Amino acid sequence: MKKLSKHVGFGGTSAMVGAMIGAMAGTFSPNAFADEFPSKTITMVIPFAAGGPTDTVGRLVGQSMGKELKQTVIIENVGGAGGTVGAAKVARSAPDGYTIFLHHIGHSTAPALYKKMSYNPIDDFEPIGLVTDVPMTIVARKDFPAKDFKEMVTYVKANAAKLNYANAGLGSASHLCGMLFMSTVEADMTTVPFKGTGPAMTDLLAGQVDLMCDQTTNTTSQIKGEKIKAYAVTTKNKVPSLPDIPTADSQGLKGFDVAVWHGLYAPKATPKPALDKLQAALLVALKDPEVVKRMADLGTEPVAPARATPAALKAHLKSEIDRWGPIIKKAGVYAD
Ligand code: MLT
Repeated sequence: MKKLSKHVGFGGTSAMVGAMIGAMAGTFSPNAFADEFPSKTITMVIPFAAGGPTDTVGRLVGQSMGKELKQTVIIENVGGAGGTVGAAKVARSAPDGYTIFLHHIGHSTAPALYKKMSYNPIDDFEPIGLVTDVPMTIVARKDFPAKDFKEMVTYVKANAAKLNYANAGLGSASHLCGMLFMSTVEADMTTVPFKGTGPAMTDLLAGQVDLMCDQTTNTTSQIKGEKIKAYAVTTKNKVPSLPDIPTADSQGLKGFDVAVWHGLYAPKATPKPALDKLQAALLVALKDPEVVKRMADLGTEPVAPARATPAALKAHLKSEIDRWGPIIKKAGVYAD
């Protein structure tokens, strides 16, 4: 097994506690909890830096959920190690309904990538529902010396040793897409992990890093503003908001198809009345015209209501863990 390549670093107290005390004193009433929830600000943990694609989806959905729940949903960015630092924090949080967690495909790849984990992605979380599937784009700094996808692949293959590729850490979506791209074209660039692709984009814009594969929710406005070069979208079909960007599949990478699913969770043992209200608010948010419009502008759309459920997210997470485990094992990629 080979350890993943060359890295260079750039760079409440709660109603539940009250309920537990009440229960010990014989006064806990689940109905009272259900009636009162939520009675204070809810924190949505995003396991990546501010300004990136997960943060963008989280802020959009969180704000709309807050309107429905009549409480503010604030965002706490806890980036690091491909999303595992934030996930570990949520797994240790009070299961009172006031901490929720938006994570993506990385929640399913972490068990195969990380030898030591302080949490279990299934057992330590309550699923609330799937949120969105986001296409990705293969992009480069503005002055990257290749005018189209074919030239880019030729250049990358000839110059891999001196090129670097930004990602949001091992197991992040940008890492998975980059690994897939590099193994498909057989080029081993130096990977540069960031706490999220928000800061990675800042360095791409400044020309500090050469290439990245990232979600349309982070790249669309930079592509449209011609601040970066876009060579391909990673899905089988083109993305309506980026009609001029061909797919990688249509440009020679047959079968290349990567999209990033996002799911909403709470810590294990969060009371069911809170989970039910959170899920109902998620459903409303995913139909909110402002959310739908903003997502469309950014190349994505909310999942259908049947997928924004605990059962659908639980089943999807499990099947993704089963899917990625053997792929990652075969690739021989892991973190200590
Ligand atoms: C990723 O590559 O996993 C994401 O872009 C992380 C992020 O939201 O910054």
